[in-house]
Amino acid sequence: MLQVDGHDVDDLLRRFGSPLNVLVETTVRANYRRVANAFRAGWPGSSRVLYAIKANSTLAVRAILSQEGAGGDCFGLGELHATLAAGADPALVAMNGSDKTAEEIDAAIAAGITINIDGADELDLIAQACRTGRRARVNLRLKVLPPDLDRYVEPRHPVPGGYVDGVRRAKWGHTVSAALPLLQAARAMPEIDVHGFTCHIGHLSHRTEAFVAVAAALAAAVRDLHAACGFVPSVLDLGGGWAPERDPSFRGHGRVSPPIETVAAASAKALLAGLPPGMLPALWVEPGRFIVSNAVVLLARGGAVKRDAGHCWMHVDASTNNLPRIESGDFHYTILPASRMHDPMDETVDIVGGTCFRSVLGAGRAMPAPRRGDLVAILDAGMYAEAFANQFNSVPRPATVLVSSHGAEVVKARETIADLFRNQHVPCWLESAGEGAA
Ligand SMILES: Cc1ncc(COP(=O)(O)O)c(C=O)c1O
Repeated sequence: MLQVDGHDVDDLLRRFGSPLNVLVETTVRANYRRVANAFRAGWPGSSRVLYAIKANSTLAVRAILSQEGAGGDCFGLGELHATLAAGADPALVAMNGSDKTAEEIDAAIAAGITINIDGADELDLIAQACRTGRRARVNLRLKVLPPDLDRYVEPRHPVPGGYVDGVRRAKWGHTVSAALPLLQAARAMPEIDVHGFTCHIGHLSHRTEAFVAVAAALAAAVRDLHAACGFVPSVLDLGGGWAPERDPSFRGHGRVSPPIETVAAASAKALLAGLPPGMLPALWVEPGRFIVSNAVVLLARGGAVKRDAGHCWMHVDASTNNLPRIESGDFHYTILPASRMHDPMDETVDIVGGTCFRSVLGAGRAMPAPRRGDLVAILDAGMYAEAFANQFNSVPRPATVLVSSHGAEVVKARETIADLFRNQHVPCWLESAGEGAA
């Protein structure tokens, strides 16, 4: 029987039901410390980790990270609420988004967080929000275009015209020529404190060179802007995309990301080398996936086993509802035969969910010849799984249990069927079913 952080998985499923997300507190803490130490070791100035809550918005995750001293990256009012409600220090929180509303800008200023400006009209919205005498702290989002990036980006993520062109056409950020007037306008506004720059171009590659290329391109943009207007940033934010070794978006394709220590050291070095001499801003990074990916194990119970046409299908009670990025992001998860860890892996099976979709969680996997009731553990289900999970086929989403030295405790209740329809309403003229048919 597989154990997760000392808990037998059959015991967890008996107590909390199946399927079940099991969140491991020590892993969240260890991942945070690892990424924080990696950048601390590589950057001679101060460095801070801002957790990107979009990767997993479970409040308990955020609360653990708040205890650790992590800042936060957030999008919109929902993520701002979750980030602050679970204890993040507003001085270390930044709001991203390519189309922030007046309400979001207002809430960000009221909370005292940093706004990562991503459009000229945000300055007007800030001016509006500050008319009562408040001040706004901002970074300007840059669009960095490393010329050699296509050499390092995954062929699994092909972009027509190349990746650099894809970044150029993406909605986020400003090239240096667009950033300069914006920077000057922001600096001229008395209610705005411009702290620095931010960029994020995603988890492009498992290769260190890709991250180095982005850091070098950010430094080049900062250098050009400094040459043009003399601005010296106090913060540079390299965004997220830092991959865990077992990143499900790379792993199935035979690609293993290098350790964060290697990537952080090389990125920090490239950034520093490209800045004007003597410029040493604080370094911020916004990891999401790195912090949560391996901190959640999704447990599921086997159902129908079907053998036909030379094939074997092992149903489980989780589905691609719970791991939607299998279909929309080509994710590949390691799946363990959790209740039969010592049995020979003597059959090749497709592990599938039961929903009215192909719902293949793992194709062609070696497993002990499956039986109804077998338990499976799907590893690395912490990133962009619960956050993307859906209720297709009106299936309620599972509970999440936090395991720690304090024991096991539900931190997200299992949805009920009533929850699924709670916000719906059938108008009164539709209530008398069957009358029309007569
Ligand atoms: C602005 C920003 N920062 C950070 C992240 C986190 O990225 P990851 O989870 O790949 O580290 C994202 C993800 O989309 C993002 O848009």
